[in-house]
Amino acid sequence: MRSVIDVPDLSLEELSGLMDTAEDIIAHPGDYSERCHGKKLATLFFEPSTRTRLSFEAAMYELGGNVLSVTGAGTSSAAKGESVADTAKTVSCYADIIAMRHPKEGAALVAARNASVPVINAGDGGHCHPTQTLADLLTIRRKKGKLDHLTVGLCGDLKFGRTVHSLISAMSRYEGLRFVLISPEELKVPSYVKDESLKRKNIPYTQTTDLEQVIGDLDILYMTRVQRERFFNEEDYLRLKDSYILTPEKMRKARPDLCVMHPLPRVNEISVAVDDDPRACYFKQVLNGKYMRMALILMLLKEAGRL
Ligand code: NCD
Repeated sequence: MRSVIDVPDLSLEELSGLMDTAEDIIAHPGDYSERCHGKKLATLFFEPSTRTRLSFEAAMYELGGNVLSVTGAGTSSAAKGESVADTAKTVSCYADIIAMRHPKEGAALVAARNASVPVINAGDGGHCHPTQTLADLLTIRRKKGKLDHLTVGLCGDLKFGRTVHSLISAMSRYEGLRFVLISPEELKVPSYVKDESLKRKNIPYTQTTDLEQVIGDLDILYMTRVQRERFFNEEDYLRLKDSYILTPEKMRKARPDLCVMHPLPRVNEISVAVDDDPRACYFKQVLNGKYMRMALILMLLKEAGRL
């Protein structure tokens, strides 16, 4: 059973096919409004979420399908001690496809190995978040007209930020990319991400703690929240949480065609005064995420022989 747990589960051709489908949905939404008639998506979210869960659910409704939803470990049998494997087997009896978010790294993989329907990882701990990356890729392709030959700055919590890990994994498959990794010393990109994506493919990257010094070199600036829930102690979080705040003043040093992104939720990383800047793309990302999830649901249901 084909599931999507991490970005490498999708080939470059599939990524571009999903973006093409999303563009077609944007252009002809009526053609898709009954494609999933009678099908059910289960959203199992054992961690807080606004965008990702609602985006999956809106995606399924816009395809004419239905949604079964579990939110918060406290209200499901997880609170009684049920394993992820048993939950996946059970939910496979009710739903045609599952989207799962879980605080533990690897949980979605365990679910996929036990489910008899496709599983989509909607974020597993500090590991990865492939459907956010789908939203990010479409946003970049629409804004820049390409996904290659770009200088991509990633800023903030690059250690625990799973969206960053998935985006590096995806973008490092395109030609001519250069990464600028901007974070406090303690929150650098984990070595496994650098080894698997950047070093293995000889992709140029620099690491710095200073956003202002590099902002003028960037085509993309991907800001992230410091991931409070993954810290071992509150003091460290408080010390690091406001390391980077993007303001109109800093934006003055940036290129006129910079694309500012953020997976959201934002805490303090981007001043609301930047929202009206035409270079701010983060709310477009939200919308693109819904279309990419529609495209992914269609692809996986078709492959599973359920459409
Ligand atoms: C992100 C996540 O859950 O990893 N949010 C999202 O899905 N858009 C980023 C975050 O929580 O900081």
